[in-house]
Amino acid sequence: MPAIAVVGTQWGDEGKGKVTDLLGADMDYVVRYQGGNNAGHTVVTPDGTKYAIHLVPVGILTPGVVPVIAGGVVVDPKFLIAELDELSAGGVDVSNLKLSADAHLIMPHHRALDRVVERYLGSSRIGTTGRGIGPTYADKVARMGIRVQDLLDPGILTAKLEAILREKNQILVKVYNRKAIDPAAVAEEYLGYAERLKPYIADTRLLLNKALEAGKNVLLEGAQATMLDVDHGTYPFVTSSNPTTGGACVGTGIAPGKITTAIGIIKAYTTRVGSGPFPTELHDEYGEFLLKRGGEYGVTTGRRRRCGWFDAVLGRYAVRVNGITDLFVTKLDVLSELKRVPICVGYEIDGEVFEDMPMTQTDVHHAKPVYEYHDGWWEDVSECRKFEELPANAQAYIARLEELCGARVSVIGVGPGRDENVIRHPLI
Ligand code: GDP
Ligand code: IMO
Ligand code: MG
Repeated sequence: MPAIAVVGTQWGDEGKGKVTDLLGADMDYVVRYQGGNNAGHTVVTPDGTKYAIHLVPVGILTPGVVPVIAGGVVVDPKFLIAELDELSAGGVDVSNLKLSADAHLIMPHHRALDRVVERYLGSSRIGTTGRGIGPTYADKVARMGIRVQDLLDPGILTAKLEAILREKNQILVKVYNRKAIDPAAVAEEYLGYAERLKPYIADTRLLLNKALEAGKNVLLEGAQATMLDVDHGTYPFVTSSNPTTGGACVGTGIAPGKITTAIGIIKAYTTRVGSGPFPTELHDEYGEFLLKRGGEYGVTTGRRRRCGWFDAVLGRYAVRVNGITDLFVTKLDVLSELKRVPICVGYEIDGEVFEDMPMTQTDVHHAKPVYEYHDGWWEDVSECRKFEELPANAQAYIARLEELCGARVSVIGVGPGRDENVIRHPLI
């Protein structure tokens, strides 16, 4: 079986964790391919246990699955060890984890720079998670990164740290008035992590390609989302990696043709954490309604998520950019009890209406949503399991999303639990 990608279509937190967990039972490998511990993926197992997973793939919760952290991920080793320890303490077997030797390491100077740069940006800040993600990717591209494989060679690790911190300390001390970081202390700390992580380190590119050649099932678990993609999102208010399906190829070393199913996770409305444009954002009682009923608080930072109506311009864009074959609409249950449910079908910019994403960020900032209003439904839909069981107006809402986005809606989430779904077309 070819590889399957699960990608976020909006600004993150669409429910990728739940969907990955749902599909996990049919998978041999579940792979994180980009991002790091900026992600927060929630899984609610059938016995009601709730997990908030940040760095490891959600597949770690499924017995028999090999969880893989591929080379495109940035890894904070201290965080990884803590997450593995916490999962182990909860009875999860983490021994199968594979960690790419190519993954870049988040270092203390990355965390320090992430926070201090945001502080200096003031009102122009991105609102990052402060976990060192951006600076780590920046150093990777600048060829100044330290990789997981460097943990296996103390000489290289020490030499790299000395060279890199010579420059970074100048910046930390002279530009940002912070304390210098001692390379010897960091080398000692990281060599301690090396001892713990050694058993997991692997050539995941080879492993995954061999798995595909042997007909195994591989799920590529996206973190963040299309509109946070550094190339395709609302730059500069984005993360520093490529959550889109193209990023899954780059981050794993799996060729594009091997990914034949791309499942786009899309909330029945829209949310965003951090700064940046958000055309359908609501600042009224309806925004409060979505926040409260949807429980829209960040899993990683606890921040209140900004909430707004469904944006079909964005949905259509995500379907195109990712080659989405199936949409999984989550949180339809949150929309019950609304008299009417608006859908944004276009953007009005300087008196002109656009149906597709504008070319420039200035236009996105100026975009005013053009709404189409649909009659709402009062019924609680959380017990529905078949499309026909949904209220007629909810069915019409989904049919319209499907039409506007240009991809079939295969599953509809009606609750946070693994089985709380209306399945129209099986995903695998
Ligand atoms: P992720 O980052 O994409 O994995 O999403 P998060 O876990 O950050 O946020 C999604 C939230 O919605 C979590 O609290 C999930 O438990 C919850 N969730 C997912 N699907 C549904 C659904 O269909 N209905 C409801 N009510 N909650 C859902
Ligand atoms: P999941 O996988 C929502 C946002 C941050 C900030 C921007 C850049 O749970 O969907 P970063 O720390 O990555 O440099 O921050 O990206 N962000 C997310 N928003 N869900 C996420 O992950 C996010 N990961 C990063 O809030 O605006
Ligand atoms: Mg999340």
